[in-house]
Amino acid sequence: MGRAFKTVILGGGVAAGYAALEFVKHGINHGELCIISEEPVAPYERPALSKGCLLPEDAATLPAFHTCIGTGAERQTPKWYKEHGIELVLNTRIKSADLRMKTLLSAAGETISYKTLIIATGARVLRLEEFGVAGADAKNICYLRDWNDSRKLVDIMAECRGGRAVVIGGGYIGMETAAALVANRVKVTMVFPEQHCMARLFTPEIAAFYEEYYKKRGVEFIKGTVMSSFESDAEKKITAIVLKDNRQIKADMVVVGIGIRANVGLFEGQLILEKGGIKVNGKMQTSNPSVYAVGDVVAFPLKLYGDVRRLEHVDHARKSAAHAVEAIMSPEKVQDYDYLPFFYSRVFTLSWQFYGDNVGKCVLFGNPEVQKFGAFWVDKGILMGAFLEGGNKDEYLRLGTLARLRPPVKDIEMLAKEGLAYPFFP
Ligand code: FDA
Ligand code: NAD
Repeated sequence: MGRAFKTVILGGGVAAGYAALEFVKHGINHGELCIISEEPVAPYERPALSKGCLLPEDAATLPAFHTCIGTGAERQTPKWYKEHGIELVLNTRIKSADLRMKTLLSAAGETISYKTLIIATGARVLRLEEFGVAGADAKNICYLRDWNDSRKLVDIMAECRGGRAVVIGGGYIGMETAAALVANRVKVTMVFPEQHCMARLFTPEIAAFYEEYYKKRGVEFIKGTVMSSFESDAEKKITAIVLKDNRQIKADMVVVGIGIRANVGLFEGQLILEKGGIKVNGKMQTSNPSVYAVGDVVAFPLKLYGDVRRLEHVDHARKSAAHAVEAIMSPEKVQDYDYLPFFYSRVFTLSWQFYGDNVGKCVLFGNPEVQKFGAFWVDKGILMGAFLEGGNKDEYLRLGTLARLRPPVKDIEMLAKEGLAYPFFP
């Protein structure tokens, strides 16, 4: 038994939603396109899970943030897919793929075949069990990747109001959920192995501003260590976490954000992989010409830096998806993907954006005391990356332009003094 489609998108996350919109813009016939997703809901803007969904009041919930609302485009509810003749196959996990036969096999035993496949399987969270932590299957541990995780987190957080949470990991999930927990009147201790938060992007100076801000709101930081085990009660609920040095920290709940791995497992041995992702060319095409890949799962040529990268951010998921569809639908017109890395985050009343590459010397500017400051990364006399907290629309636009144009910077002292007003193009 099976179904056949001209195009199948495997994965129903951000990239899938944006790819669907792009197909509709190009014009597709009813019944040609199918999206298969393990999740029970249509593609949505995943960033909402750690922001709007966790607000203490008037929290966002679906269907409010289906794609492509994040870029001001249409909100694609299940009705939208139906109206455009797109088959949305939800609650369906694909357990194997045969790229030679052009078929996918679902966990329920259905075979779905395609002419063109777009892989948009995103990533999975790393789990504490993978680091040998005992007791990590407790009831009150929360991860945050998908809709079901977010429902669980919201429920447990509500039960723990007035109580204590330990947040494991000092990256994006750690920082964003810690802020949400505080807003929900849960006291937070953050534990992570580095010397400061957001170590993949922030310098110690940038991190110090955010850590200070969090501390003023009652967050405690335990840095430079990891946990070894949990203390649990008879109901398999964690009551405390135990650190490597045997210190115990009481907890009514635990949130874990210790990174992700791209979901490439179905394609190992069938596609060329690189840097933990599926290798694609500038058209988002994999080593198999009938198969494209987009979003978190791809290792793509980053033209700007002559490098191959895997990026785990929503802007790239949206743009790479649109690019793959362009390459499929208008192969004669499409150029190579020419992406400028862009990341952002919002916590408490703070908000920052980053464009480019954080390489070379980091030059700070502005005034953290009024919550408006930034940083430029200058490598071999060239501006490579730009970060700004508390900017306005025009300033963020300028940040992106600078990171794209990479002007030379002759006077570092003046750059630190002038910040965005530095005469980059005299
Ligand atoms: P995505 O993870 O969105 O989708 C993958 C889909 O594939 C899922 O629906 C999954 O179930 C499905 N799937 C996987 N394997 C399957 C299988 N075998 N069978 C069927 N279905 C399968 N970025 C940013 O720039 N700013 C931000 O503020 C945030 N905030 C944020 C918050 C939270 C909580 C998370 C988890 C992530 C972010 N991100 C972010 C990152 C951003 O959301 C991420 O880069 C994109 O969702 C990636 O989109 P993809 O479509 O590639 O994967
Ligand atoms: P991350 O890579 O941002 O951070 C992982 C953190 O885990 C590290 O900073 C480190 O502190 C910690 N860590 C690693 N191993 C550990 C261990 N054994 N014990 C304790 N801590 C450990 O990953 P994340 O925060 O889990 O986020 C997951 C994904 O979601 C990422 O792809 C991220 O880009 C994405 N995301 C992005 C945003 C955003 O862009 N605003 C927001 C949320 C999530």
